[in-house]
This record gives sequence, structure tokens and C-alpha cells, in this order.
Amino acid sequence: MLDIFAIRKDFPILARQVNGKPLVYLDNGATSQKPLSVLQAMDDFQRNHNANVHRGIYTLSEEATALYEGAREKIRQFINARSVEEIIFTRNATEAINLVALSWARQKLVAGDEVLTTEMEHHSNIVPWQMLAKERGIMLKFVPAKPDLGTLDLGLFETLLTPKTKLVCVGHMSNLLGTVNPVKTFVEKSHAVGAKVLIDGCQAVPHLPVDVQQLGADFYAFSGHKMLGPTGIGVLWARKEILDATEPVLGGGDMIKEVTKVGATWNDLPWKFEAGTPNVVGAIGLGAAVDYLTKVGMENIWQHEQDMATYVLPKLTAIPGVQLFGMQKPSLDRGAIFSIWIDGMHPHDIASIFDEQGIAIRAGHMCSQPMLEVLGKPAAARASFYLYNTQAEADVFLNAIEDAKKVFGV
Ligand code: ALA
Repeated sequence: MLDIFAIRKDFPILARQVNGKPLVYLDNGATSQKPLSVLQAMDDFQRNHNANVHRGIYTLSEEATALYEGAREKIRQFINARSVEEIIFTRNATEAINLVALSWARQKLVAGDEVLTTEMEHHSNIVPWQMLAKERGIMLKFVPAKPDLGTLDLGLFETLLTPKTKLVCVGHMSNLLGTVNPVKTFVEKSHAVGAKVLIDGCQAVPHLPVDVQQLGADFYAFSGHKMLGPTGIGVLWARKEILDATEPVLGGGDMIKEVTKVGATWNDLPWKFEAGTPNVVGAIGLGAAVDYLTKVGMENIWQHEQDMATYVLPKLTAIPGVQLFGMQKPSLDRGAIFSIWIDGMHPHDIASIFDEQGIAIRAGHMCSQPMLEVLGKPAAARASFYLYNTQAEADVFLNAIEDAKKVFGV
């Protein structure tokens, strides 16, 4: 059991009021709040150790390098990668996925090859593949979702896999439905036809234990800011053999070994893919976030979110007129993300009314327009919980829905 009240004290923002009411922050799918230890780690770096990394032969630069590379090692341990060579810092998960599209995929895929993504992805795991498909004459196909069950259609997935399939891209947990997809099955079936697999772990790494060796994929992308870290830092994990055989896409400082007027040789991994001065303070903040999550325990965080779902789901689905997307009942394959539609109330109106009560939820297309199209709705209102959310906050959320319905007379 999490000591949520002790945890909440670590997050200064959770003590604030919004519109005269205690903040109830339920937009963790978009970004998470930051504990003091993360804020302090970044502050300490900038006050006491700030220098560029990998460059200076002086104390501050050596300290900065040790802190930056130390953060990489923390992240390696957190996702159980074999080596820090496989941990590439990016700006966010979107950049990590784009890096795969612009480097490995652009170099290895040819016209007629096929990339499979799914209807359940957020835009970051769709648009880069659409752009590549257009540029290279690659066929992009979508694994259909079963909207009533909130799951992907595994039978149809298998029929879509062919020897032409070179890459399969799948989200570990849906940002709209909260479904945890059977990514290991995706990996096994894709590898059987020789396709590589990219997992978008944006919504999974912050919430449940992830072991990249156990999953067996080829690429795994995630963002720092959704897992208690700062914005502007994300991670691409990829197999060393693949990274070794892939050319970098951004050229400049740090990614080279030697430069002459006629050319350059590349640095070792992972720096080959990190051109220019990196986001040192962001990486250090993410390292501190990983320390915090590890101390609380990812199993405990996932259990707490399962408990939240077990508490919220029967109450939410019992409210007349509320249509909940995705799995209706608690499940080991479902996180604490609740996206709803209420006839007669636009999600933006729901979010505005909630804001008056200090409740922050997301409303709109959720960066998941293809999935909303499958669901037959233009938008949704989404509450997404995290380790610091309480049952009392769940009640505030549920009561606010009843109140909003009264205001709109629905
Ligand atoms: N993909 C993020 C979300 O779900 C931005 O809100």
C-alpha cells in the first residue's frame, strides 16, 4: 500500500488552490507533477555543478558529465537495458519515435515494405510513419481496435503480418482507453515474420514495471515529463546491434570522433545519436524522478492505480448518460485512465465546469483522433490518475460529473 499522504507532501503543487478549491490534478496522461527531489536535483545542478558535458578538463565539467551519465545509468537500470549504449536521450517520446523513423527506418525500408501501427495509437506513433510512408512509398497499415472491448484485434493483427512487414509499432498503454496492450505477443508474432517492433511506452513506463529485455522488442520510446521528470527530456531505448548498424541523422558536436574538411567519423554509442549540447539538467531531473519512482516501487504504483480503477469504474459506469470508452470493468490490463462522453455536453464544457471546482482533466481529441473516429466521437473528457491521487479525489471527480449533468440538464 502506498502512503499517499506522505507522497503528496513531496509534491509542492498539490497543496495549491485553483479557483478557491483544492487542486485535484487528473491530467497525468498529459504530464505529471514533480516531486521536490526532482526540483532540487535540477536546482542543485544549476547552482553548483553547471558546465557543459564531455568537453571540459576541469572539475565542474567532470561533475556535470558524471551527473549526466549517472542519470543514463539510472534509466538503464529502471528499464533493465543491457547497457547504457542502448539509452539515447531525446527531447521526448515523439522525438524518440521520429528518430527511429528518420534513421533506422529511412535507411532500411524500401518502397513496397509495410509498416504496421494500430488504431489505438496517439499521433506520435502514427504521423512519423505516415510521413515516411509518403516519402518512401511504404505501405502503412493499421491493426484494428475492438471499440466495445477497448482492445486490439489480435486475430486481424496476425492476418496483416506478412513477409513485407518490416516494422510493427504499438503503444504499451493507450492514452485514451488505459488499455495495456499485449506487447509481448506483438513482439513474438512480429519477429516470427522478421519484422522489428517499436513500443511506445509513454503511458506505461510512468505507471507499471517495464523490463525491455523481458519484452524483447527492438525499440522502446518514452517521455520524462509523464514520469515525474521535467519536460524536454525523453528516451529511446534500442538494441545495440541495431544502433551500431544505423547511421546518425543529426550531425554536429559530441556525435563525432574526428572531423576533417572531407568528412567525419562517428562517436561511440549512445553519443552517436546525441548531437550538440544535450539537455543536461533535464537528464539529471529524470534521473531523480527514476530514483523517486524506484523508492516508491513500480509494483506499488501499478497496484495503487489498479485500486483506483476498481473504485472508480463501477461508480462511473453507473452514472446515467455517461459513456466510458474502453474496458468497463477492472482488469490487470487496464490502467486508471477514464475517458468519457456525455450526450448533450461537449467535453470542453465538462473541463471548464470542472476547472471552476479546481479539477484538472483533459478534453479534446486527446492526440488520438483515429481511435476517436473508431469510437464515433469527435472528442472525449479524460481523467488520468497517478500515484498521488486519492480516493477522495476520485469522489470529487465523480460528484463533479453529477453536478455538471445538472447544470446542463442532461
Ligand atoms: N499524449 C498526451 C496525452 O495523452 C499528450 O495527453
